[in-house]
Amino acid sequence: MCGIIGIVGTTPVQSRLIDSLKRLEYRGYDSAGIAGVVDGHVERRRAKGKIRALEEVLAADPLNATVGIGHTRWATHGGPSTRNAHPQTAGRVTLVHNGIIENYAELREALKKQGRTFESETDTEVIAQLLDAELKTRPPLDALKATLDQLTGAYALAVLIDGEDELIMGARRGSPLVVGYGEGEMFLGSDALAVGPFTNRIAYLDEGDYVAIDHHTARIFDETGQPVERPVTTVPASAALVEKGNYRHFMEKEIHDQPEGCQHTIAAYVDPLTDHTSVAGDIDWAKLERVQIVACGTSYIAGLMGKYLIERLADLPVDVEIASEFRYRQPALRPGSLAVAMSQSGETADTLAALRYCQAKGMLTAAVVNAQESTMAREVDVVWPIHCGPEIGVASTKAFTAQVCVLTAVAIAAARARGRIDEAEEQRLVKVLLEAPRLVAESIKLEDAVKGIAQEVSKARDVLFLGRGPMYPLALEGALKLKEISYIHAEGYAAGELKHGPIALVDEDTPIVILAPFDSYFEKSASNMQEVMARGGQVIFITDPEGEKHAPAGARVVVTAPKSDPLISPLVLAAPVQLLAYYVAVQKGADVDQPRNLAKSVTVE
Ligand code: AGP
Repeated sequence: MCGIIGIVGTTPVQSRLIDSLKRLEYRGYDSAGIAGVVDGHVERRRAKGKIRALEEVLAADPLNATVGIGHTRWATHGGPSTRNAHPQTAGRVTLVHNGIIENYAELREALKKQGRTFESETDTEVIAQLLDAELKTRPPLDALKATLDQLTGAYALAVLIDGEDELIMGARRGSPLVVGYGEGEMFLGSDALAVGPFTNRIAYLDEGDYVAIDHHTARIFDETGQPVERPVTTVPASAALVEKGNYRHFMEKEIHDQPEGCQHTIAAYVDPLTDHTSVAGDIDWAKLERVQIVACGTSYIAGLMGKYLIERLADLPVDVEIASEFRYRQPALRPGSLAVAMSQSGETADTLAALRYCQAKGMLTAAVVNAQESTMAREVDVVWPIHCGPEIGVASTKAFTAQVCVLTAVAIAAARARGRIDEAEEQRLVKVLLEAPRLVAESIKLEDAVKGIAQEVSKARDVLFLGRGPMYPLALEGALKLKEISYIHAEGYAAGELKHGPIALVDEDTPIVILAPFDSYFEKSASNMQEVMARGGQVIFITDPEGEKHAPAGARVVVTAPKSDPLISPLVLAAPVQLLAYYVAVQKGADVDQPRNLAKSVTVE
């Protein structure tokens, strides 16, 4: 939820801390702050709002330090304010925190009884107060360990101590933290992107690890206090990968990245020479009785798409559930069945908790993730990476289509393994999948047609998205995209459900987006189109060339995507849906890449 950076440097650190926080803003942007060692003492600068507010503070009052930490916040305990902004300070301690301390209230009461007073409403300040108390009787690392042992909940920390000019301490449990290895400089960051401008040599801390970095070394300890080594890897997240290029927003860039993204994804799951699938994992698909997918948001919708694909092709039962509901309802699970966590970040707390619940029930576990070094990726039996490159826009686009590509390959592989299709059909389906990137690129060219209706849609109070079959999950995704970046209320519905209630919403002010390629559902979708037009609904009909020919007259607009096999039509029709949300948001002047109240990775429950 929040972004953390720490630099033990040899040159002025202010601008580098700010640059890194700008790369981390997608994690949260309610407030921001930095702190550094100035003439032996720690000073801090903070501001409510985005990084640019902090830059204004620094323009008037620069921080002249070479060792420092920084933080960009997504508020959990205590609203967005300068007082609640990180870094938080108590006595000799100044620190930044990502996560939620679940026992902070009782700790806060106990500290108050010891005579300590609090400046903020945050759980983070409790950590600083605890550590300051421990420092009275212990050296820094022992004091940190003693503090961590009192905490329940999730944290990633970066800590400065007054009087320790060349030391930054860090710790992680439930929220990611990496160590960056530079030349005579060392770094801490929430992820590889945070330290990407300074180094590509990264060590990922494990759950419970804590660390002390100085200019040349990182001393890492596990949760028992034993010194450990964590492997230093060279990461590919090059600076270029996270720049916008000539696009106005990361989301726009990432929509356009999809053909290439899907190509990378598919290439990892099929053999183009033999047209066979190659899906990792020691899974006996023939004997497998059930798959349980757990996820949140767009990843949940990708999982729903996977259900349609895997059940139709492989005749294998698939349940898909919202992660935050799943583990609290005590679901009936069977050891040996397969649990699949879907997550772009690999750090979503709800999904991680649901995954761990499945593991505790003896299930085989897989993760469909973009961040291959994420917590989820490191805890499952098999990782199915989506390989679409860093996704910075808070609204997920290329990760969605990449996830669907992975599940399409999994569905084909499972169908083959279960004898539902023969080799020839597997090869035909693989060839179809290999066409997807080209057709997605064609579909993105519908940009102008979609932009043309964005102005009208931007005035709507409510928008309905309707679809049947695999177009139903895409209808959900279209509604989610529109809601989260344009703030217009939208709902995705199974088109057949319209007459069971939602049709009451339809009037001449209601844009209705109907997703209907010319497939086995088309006739019924065309009837739905008639039903809403009869009530004045303004239909935006997204179809393909055959569908355009057969569409009932009267649609407000028809957007014609390229013809595609039903196996990949959700991938091909995703772009117009994403572009509609994007251009409506642009039309409304909304903050496309950092919508209000949201964060890219929700690492708290
Ligand atoms: C998608 O556009 C949203 N930003 C959000 O629903 C997101 O999909 C969800 O928070 C899950 O994130 P994850 O894929 O990183 O687990």
